[in-house]
Amino acid sequence: MTKVLLVDDEESIRNMMRMTLELDGYSVWTAADGPTALEIFQKESPDVVLLDVRMPGMDGVEVLSRIKEINRDAEVIIISGHGDMDMAVECLRKEASNFLTKPVSEELLSLSLKRSLEKVALRRKLKQYTRNLETLVREANVELEKAYQFRENIIENSPDATVCIRKGGAIIIFNSAAEKLLGYGKEEVVGKMNIVQIYLPGVARKIMKDLKSDDFGGPGILQKRQVTLVDKHGHEIPVYISAAVLYENGIEAGSVGIFTDLREKIKLEKQLLRSEKLSSLGKLSAGIAHEINQPLTGVLTFAHLLAKKFKNDEPTRKDLEIIIRETTRVRGIVQGVLDFAREMPMQKKLRRIEPVLDQTLEIIVHQQRFFGIALVKDYGSDIPEMAVDSNLMEQVFMNIILNALDAMDGSGTLTIRTRRLEEWVEIDFQDTGSGMPEIMLDKIFDPFFTTKDSTEGMGMGLGLAVSYGIVKNHNGDILVASREGVGTTFTIRLPVEMNY
Ligand SMILES: Nc1ncnc2c1ncn2[C@@H]1O[C@H](COP(=O)(O)OP(=O)(O)OP(=O)(O)O)[C@@H](O)[C@H]1O
Ligand SMILES: [Mg+2]
Repeated sequence: MTKVLLVDDEESIRNMMRMTLELDGYSVWTAADGPTALEIFQKESPDVVLLDVRMPGMDGVEVLSRIKEINRDAEVIIISGHGDMDMAVECLRKEASNFLTKPVSEELLSLSLKRSLEKVALRRKLKQYTRNLETLVREANVELEKAYQFRENIIENSPDATVCIRKGGAIIIFNSAAEKLLGYGKEEVVGKMNIVQIYLPGVARKIMKDLKSDDFGGPGILQKRQVTLVDKHGHEIPVYISAAVLYENGIEAGSVGIFTDLREKIKLEKQLLRSEKLSSLGKLSAGIAHEINQPLTGVLTFAHLLAKKFKNDEPTRKDLEIIIRETTRVRGIVQGVLDFAREMPMQKKLRRIEPVLDQTLEIIVHQQRFFGIALVKDYGSDIPEMAVDSNLMEQVFMNIILNALDAMDGSGTLTIRTRRLEEWVEIDFQDTGSGMPEIMLDKIFDPFFTTKDSTEGMGMGLGLAVSYGIVKNHNGDILVASREGVGTTFTIRLPVEMNY
């Protein structure tokens, strides 16, 4: 029911108006003075207030001001006598809705109340609409935000590095794969760097030119091709790029480039090539070695027989001994080649890897070449048993340790570490020897690559080739890191899942 508060100090007027209002169906509260009126207003929140201006104590103007302080939208109709025009005007200025002069006719009272109530209803509706509208706008914003976020997420989480630039080359999007690929953080790049800075000189311009030409996938499109990027530390990174021009209302606004890291692929290709090279070289050498072996045995046997026919100090005997020594060396080499090429069946057994390492060390630490070398063992505590052929593994460890000793030449530290990574066990052999230049690292696993002087009977360049083959047969890998003058670390990586 609609609530009306009637404020007048004259009791007769209050009674009379209350009757009229109640007859019209309103709930009526009455107050004889300002303070009472304000109290009821606070408590009941009436829809309309009928307010006499001239009252003792707090007058109508004051009451109106207070009411408006409580609720700016309160509907207040002023009732004034003939002599109160100034006050009535003042009230209108203070946003009274209307004013009636005394004596108030029933009709006029009903009419202005009706109008006021219509205004109240209208205002409520308007409020409701505004609220609805606000909700709608908010919801639309949320949707928009979601759509935007979604697109952002797709770009951000793409496994390929994605870089967007404005016309002119300023980078505006740099996703996390790009961060990982190039080593820069977004904050260093977005709005700060130009696309030319992530290419080798001249490459960015060439790409933009090709992107706009029709010849590489159509205008505005550049089909996949290989280029080289330069990361934060100046390292060159081979990648595939595909790119597209971005348009806004038909006008070129910038472009997007998507980069796929090729390092792993190139590494795998190299490994494959190496394995193929190893196997074909192995087969070829084995064939030759086999053929050489027989006549060699003949030469040796007869040289021995012949030598016995001469006395120790006879020059011919000395010459024959040279023949015997050199032929023995050749036979050693031939045997090495045969060992390398022979595909021995593996006899894998579950065992701990540390005792295999220790056995290898046991053979070698007492040899003269180990004198002057400090040995540090740092074995991890959580290394599981691994399925390995221990004879072959010993051979691998031996080759790597001998190489380290050669590189340290009588002084330095050999550190042997084992550790468990999630799916791998890694064994490091770190030496403080001569190290190797970067370009050599690609070649050391090639059969017959050596920098050693082979007249001493060592240095056939087979140690690492053989080791590589063995570790590959265990589904593992050998990695190498080296710095000239500082030392070298070989890391053997064996998969844990080969446990059975
Ligand atoms: N730890 C190391 N430090 C420095 N250079 C190394 C190291 N290990 C290997 N090399 C280099 O790699 C080359 C190839 O090694 P690999 O073991 O295959 O052959 P090798 O030691 O020369 O001969 P072989 O092992 O057949 O006696 C070596 O000649 C050497 O130049
Ligand atoms: Mg060697």
